[in-house]
Amino acid sequence: MPSTSTRYLHEHPEVAFQEYETAEFVRQRLESLGVEDIRTGIAKTGVTGLIRGKKNGPQRCILVRADMDALPIHEENDVAYRSQADGVMHACGHDAHTAILLGVARLLMERRDQFSGTVKVLFQPAEEQPPGGAIAMIAEGVLEDPPVDAVIGLHVSSEQPAGRVVVGGGPAMAGGDLFEVTVKGKGGHAASPELAVDPVVIGAHILVALQSLVSRETDPMATVVVSAGVFSAGDAFNVIPDTATFGGTVRAFDPDLLEGTNRRIGEIACGIAEAMGGSAETKIMRGYPPTVNDPGMSELVRLAAIEAVGEENVGTIEPKMGGEDFSHFLRAKPGTFFFVGSRNDERGITYAHHHPRFDIDEESLATGM
Ligand code: NI
Repeated sequence: MPSTSTRYLHEHPEVAFQEYETAEFVRQRLESLGVEDIRTGIAKTGVTGLIRGKKNGPQRCILVRADMDALPIHEENDVAYRSQADGVMHACGHDAHTAILLGVARLLMERRDQFSGTVKVLFQPAEEQPPGGAIAMIAEGVLEDPPVDAVIGLHVSSEQPAGRVVVGGGPAMAGGDLFEVTVKGKGGHAASPELAVDPVVIGAHILVALQSLVSRETDPMATVVVSAGVFSAGDAFNVIPDTATFGGTVRAFDPDLLEGTNRRIGEIACGIAEAMGGSAETKIMRGYPPTVNDPGMSELVRLAAIEAVGEENVGTIEPKMGGEDFSHFLRAKPGTFFFVGSRNDERGITYAHHHPRFDIDEESLATGM
């Protein structure tokens, strides 16, 4: 039974697809506010509810989304509201997103006579774990019944001071996939390379060649990143192993560029390995598509932000190479994903997302609402 602690969500983090108590907390709050048609257990722990405006006018439906999951990180903040779960922490601010959306639900319920149409509030699991909770909730029908016309989501940002909002149309966050290349050669004694096919040298050639995908095959005005974070082969200094494996991530804002780069990784790996007497297999693991904002919806949010915090505190999004599974909603419906500053230099709230000392200035909760 959730407590009534004001920082309950931060104190009780749950990782991807395990957000059972969080979902129950959300359900109880929505119910106590009088939110209608509350549905739970969507994609395991997702929750939705409807707030119907009472004014006469167009009957459109807008979906507002918050993610609920925490990370497998041990919190190092020494604060009264520190995580009570060892090794689990809201280190990305999804607790803030959940709190903000509950606040939005309360404000809208109090103002039902001031708008027409329907607001669907949606609390999703597993933003941090691809393929993620968004795609699973969409598959279970959250964009229907009633049909959703537009979508809005936000993220608190440790890069922006509290009280500031950044919003804008076009690409906001990159799409990212993972690749793994396994090179097969022929093991042998390191002193007799002529009798072996060395997968380490082949793998090294492939890795270097992959860097030319960015520098030689991509439009200089476009953005793509190819980074390998893993390279492993062999156990002994004097043995040529049978295989070498390496892997990394590809990030881009353009879905076609992402797709094309993935394809070229496989072709280059195969071609070089074969030319050198070995073979290579490439596995692509799908991450999140690029997060691309609709200009019209972004302008709507920008004007609302100006009303809330003043024009001097509203900036334009600079695209980031990080990924976000709200992109799945944006692929299905026009919408916008924007950032609400949560940093406070004076109070030492400066650590980046996913750091064990991440924290937010709670002013950001009011701004987000
Ligand atoms: Ni996040």
